[in-house]
Parts: sequence; C-alpha cells; structure tokens
Amino acid sequence: MKPSLSVRVRPTTSDDFEAIQDLCRRVYPSVQPWGPEQLASHIRVFPEGQFTAEEVSTGRLLGMVAGLIVLWNDYEFDAAWRDMTARGMFTNHNPSGRTYYGAEIMVDPESRGMGVGRAIYAARRALVERLGLLRIRAGARLRDYHNYANSLSAEEYVRRVTRGEIVDRTLTFQLRQGFHVLAVVGGYLGDDPESRGYAAVIEWINERVAAPDDYAARDAAEARFT
Ligand SMILES: CC(C)(COP(=O)(O)OP(=O)(O)OC[C@H]1O[C@@H](n2cnc3c(N)ncnc32)[C@H](O)[C@@H]1OP(=O)(O)O)[C@@H](O)C(=O)NCCC(=O)NCCS
Repeated sequence: MKPSLSVRVRPTTSDDFEAIQDLCRRVYPSVQPWGPEQLASHIRVFPEGQFTAEEVSTGRLLGMVAGLIVLWNDYEFDAAWRDMTARGMFTNHNPSGRTYYGAEIMVDPESRGMGVGRAIYAARRALVERLGLLRIRAGARLRDYHNYANSLSAEEYVRRVTRGEIVDRTLTFQLRQGFHVLAVVGGYLGDDPESRGYAAVIEWINERVAAPDDYAARDAAEARFT
C-alpha cells in the first residue's frame, strides 16, 4: 500500500462534470464516458447519493461514486447494469426503496492503492446509515476474469477470489469494504472485455436496521462462495 493521500469526500456538483469525464476516459479508454446529461440527471434525482473525492491540498479530482435507491424486487436478480440504472440516467431512482444501488466507482489510476476508494465507500455507507436504508447492492465487474476465462467458469473464479486464492482488482477491493457475494451473473456489462460481461452481485448490509431475515440471500450464497 502506498502512503495515503489527504482526501476530502463531498457531494458531486456540476462543476465536477468535466473532470469526471476526463477521469472516465483514463479509467475506461474504450467506453463512452458519462455524459453531462447523465451526470446532471444523477444530481437532479438524488443529489446526496453522488460523491466526489478530491485531494485536499490541490482540489484535484481523485475519484467518484454514483448511485441510486431502488426497490430491489422490481428487478430480476440478474438484471443488467443498463436496466438497474435506466441506461445511466438514474430516472428509476425510488426513495421508497431500501437498497442503495452502486452504479459506479472509479479512482484515478495514478492515485490507486492510497485509500481513495475506501474513503468514498465510507461516505456511501454513512449515507445508507443516515437514510436508514437496509443495504448497498452492486454488480462488481470481474475485472481480471479475462486472465482465467479459458480455464475457470466465472463462478469458480469468484469462489477463488473470495477465498483469497486469486486477486481481482475490483472484487477483492469490494470484499475488503465488507461486501459479500450473492451471485455471479453474465451479460452485466456488454462492452467490457476485461470481465467478459460477468459481474458478482454483491451486498453490504446496514446492521443497524437489518432483521434476521434480511441476511437470507447472503446466507444462501455463503456455501457457494466461501
Ligand atoms: C476498484 C477501485 C475503485 C479501488 O480504489 P482504490 O482507491 O485503489 O482502493 P483503496 O486504495 O481505497 O483500497 C481499499 C482496499 O482495497 C484493497 N485493494 C484495492 N485495490 C486492490 C487491488 N488491485 N488488489 C488487491 N486489493 C486491492 C486495498 O488493499 C485496501 O484494503 P484495506 O482497506 O484492507 O487496506 C479502483 O481500482 C478503480 O477505480 N478501478 C477501476 C474502476 C472499476 O473497476 N470500478 C469498479 C466497477 S464495478
């Protein structure tokens, strides 16, 4: 781990859009970056749910997260990213839901391994606790699966990552943030060659409000992924 940066996490504003687009181009060079109309829609429908991390001394953008609240049962368990996010517009945001859906997290490639991701996830968890939501769910794209796709099924790959036998630069990070794997789904991100479209559906539960039944999905998956 490199030395930590001094990071401030704050709500995203329209002044951040250009820097977010630049960051997108560096993180996902082959993918269309978030458009200004999508980013504007996020802060229109759910301003508290969008966070930006900046370096305290310079104001430089270090990372961002975007998300929305959903009624989880409105969706298929293996729903694709575009369906969970209304094609990135978040117009399906529903404040009566209990699930914060993590639609995006990215950290500047030059500032990784320095605690930026951890800091923005702490802000996400604090939001979920403040709003009294039950959980965060997200699709963790299996970023390094392409290295194993010839020899392992996506499910076996995830099992090995959860056991610590393989490091996946995305899923290993998410597990360190307290997430548990619920399932492995294909066709999640159609245009992502690294994951071959596969993602792990992951969950973090707000223990302050969770009832015993709320752990059912995690308990059911445990034997398959540990
Ligand atoms: C995943 C990502 C957000 C992590 O951000 P980061 O700022 O580098 O993560 P941090 O430095 O805060 O690390 C947090 C923890 O995850 C672990 N971690 C982070 N990157 C890791 C890696 N490549 N391999 C293993 N562990 C890793 C760290 O060791 C740390 O563990 P600790 O809290 O126990 O010390 C960043 O790598 C990224 O932007 N990736 C590209 C975009 C992406 O794939 N997003 C996910 C879409 S589903």
